[in-house]
Amino acid sequence: MKKIILAACIALASGSAFAQSASKVDPALVDRYVQSMWSKVSDEWKARVKQDETQAICSATLNAPSAAEFEKIVAREKAAVVFPADGKVMGDWKAGLKVANTGTGGQFSDKPETYKGGNCYACHQMAPSELSFGTLGPSLTGYGKARKFAPEEAKAAYAKIYNAQAVMACSQMPRFGHNKFLTEQQMKDVTAFLFDPESPVNK
Ligand code: HEC
Repeated sequence: MKKIILAACIALASGSAFAQSASKVDPALVDRYVQSMWSKVSDEWKARVKQDETQAICSATLNAPSAAEFEKIVAREKAAVVFPADGKVMGDWKAGLKVANTGTGGQFSDKPETYKGGNCYACHQMAPSELSFGTLGPSLTGYGKARKFAPEEAKAAYAKIYNAQAVMACSQMPRFGHNKFLTEQQMKDVTAFLFDPESPVNK
């Protein structure tokens, strides 16, 4: 049974990749299909299927918005970034390591009280001592050091973590602050993980 489901998933995945390049599927039909699959979930979950304006443009253009759309998205998302009220974007890098290295929380199989992590290692290399990492995103090894630990660079990284699309219109990186997935403290801690000279990222 598992094998059949797996085969179906692969078929679906490759089918959607084909659909992306061929654009033969009516997007409205896909939307209706997805929504029908979410009919028995809570209203809060149902709301998650609705795309905001940025996501809708990224979907419609297959993540290749025009230069004008790109600028418009970045301007809108940038304006919505909320920096910490105390003006400090750096927290505790040791707590940030936990944020970076934890992929639990917020999934349908997780209890609501489950600790939510940023799962940064799923897409980025960070501390060179960590052997397991994904490569969807660029390596962040030595990130703070390479930027001379400049406070304005740390602030830019905080903004990126808060809302990746405030920098790159159709980024594949999750919008951690925008979607209230990570707390302000967690975003400060993971910024420190990137920018503290004592963090293993910079060793
Ligand atoms: C699902 C994959 C994914 C996850 C998870 C992810 N990122 Fe990213 N990230 C990316 C991609 C892709 C890029 C490059 C494209 C872009 O800039 O959006 C990126 C870019 C970045 C950049 C900018 C790099 C540069 O070139 O200056 C920073 C900083 C960053 N990520 C930090 C983080 C942190 C911290 C976390 C965890 C809280 C995280 N990312 C989680 C995919 C991801």
